[in-house]
Amino acid sequence: MYVIVGVTGGIAAYKSVQLVRLLVLDSHEVHVVPTEDALRFVGIPTWEALSRNPVTTSVHDDVAKVRHVALGQAADLIVVAPATANFLAKMAAGLADDLLGTSLLATTAPVVVAPAMHTEMWRHPATAHNIEVLRGRGVHVVGPEDGPLTGGDVGPGRMTEPERIHAFVAGLLGRARDLAGVRVVVTAGGTREPIDPVRYIGNRSSGRQGAAVALAAADRGATVTLIAAHVETDAVLPASAHPGIDVVRAETAEQLAKAVAAHAVEADVVVMAAAVADYRVAEASDRKLTKEETGGQLTLSLVATTDILAGLVAARPDGQTIVGFAAETETDAAKLRERARRKRRRKGVDLLAVNEVGWEKGFESADNELMFLGSADEVIGSASGTKREVADALWDAVRSIRLP
Ligand SMILES: Cc1cc2nc3c(=O)[nH]c(=O)nc-3n(C[C@H](O)[C@H](O)[C@H](O)COP(=O)(O)O)c2cc1C
Repeated sequence: MYVIVGVTGGIAAYKSVQLVRLLVLDSHEVHVVPTEDALRFVGIPTWEALSRNPVTTSVHDDVAKVRHVALGQAADLIVVAPATANFLAKMAAGLADDLLGTSLLATTAPVVVAPAMHTEMWRHPATAHNIEVLRGRGVHVVGPEDGPLTGGDVGPGRMTEPERIHAFVAGLLGRARDLAGVRVVVTAGGTREPIDPVRYIGNRSSGRQGAAVALAAADRGATVTLIAAHVETDAVLPASAHPGIDVVRAETAEQLAKAVAAHAVEADVVVMAAAVADYRVAEASDRKLTKEETGGQLTLSLVATTDILAGLVAARPDGQTIVGFAAETETDAAKLRERARRKRRRKGVDLLAVNEVGWEKGFESADNELMFLGSADEVIGSASGTKREVADALWDAVRSIRLP
């Protein structure tokens, strides 16, 4: 695999020497791309000797090979360790004034950052915002850890030890292209059922989990159609920018059903992560309803929407894997599992991803917790962490049932 190690100007640069060693020992093709400031901490000879490749910081060296984009295009993964506060800000802004900046903009490979800085810098709202922006783009953030910092301070800001960064990177590389050639349809977000031209019945789904499932699949080489109902804009932006993802919009349950029917025929795996309304207004008004017309009370008549999952299972082509999601408010673990089992049997899906939701849980949050039930109702895995981490665990579970 082709791995770029970006090194920026923090004292922890000396620890990345060990990261580079470990990656070279794994037989990866390693290219170190430092910033100018990083070279004040560890010099070019160390990086060149360890990586066995030439090292430069500038876009103006080796121009014949168009290095400023060639490295990023060739990369299977880029890891920036340590990532300074300054460099995280540059990444969040998309700046490209050195070789590391251009490589990061030229890549579609997974990107990992390992921040390292003093606690005050880590906690500063500017850094916190930059980290949020990067996470929103699918960048993996490893650490920082709590512990002793340079100068005697203690607190969060210490770079994660190189062995742990290496283990994380190895995990990503191990599954780097393990979904190559797989055609995937993912639904995300919440449907909106019109009451009149300005009002609707909706739900709290942000689309983040579905978008993360789509991104994880595309990063692992799948060709993805993301059918997006209402989603938070920042949730779907990284997916729409990904060359492996085609985004199709659908507003209502009916539109979503049609889009799924049209795209699922060709798919190897369908993941139904969208929160689809169970009911729609029987007859939406084509004019805005006013209080004068309705008086003090408005009664809406609701009718059940199409069961998309049931339709999918009924029309499933040979070899297709269907994954359903169940958002449950049951807090008792045993009862939650039993409800999930009943739902899996009722729906007939190959895999059911179950998450407990509530006022504060699941919806609209950055993290999630999922349990996976297989077609014999057995628990075949569980995951908790960022929605992206949980998404990768879902694809690991899908692979385990498709390739027994
Ligand atoms: C001794 C020393 C240690 C530093 N350590 C860090 C650090 O751990 N994290 C950080 O964000 N900045 C650190 N800095 C500040 C950065 O070097 C500075 O912001 C620099 O402009 C970063 O450049 P770069 O992000 O292009 O590599 C340190 C500076 C010095 C002099």
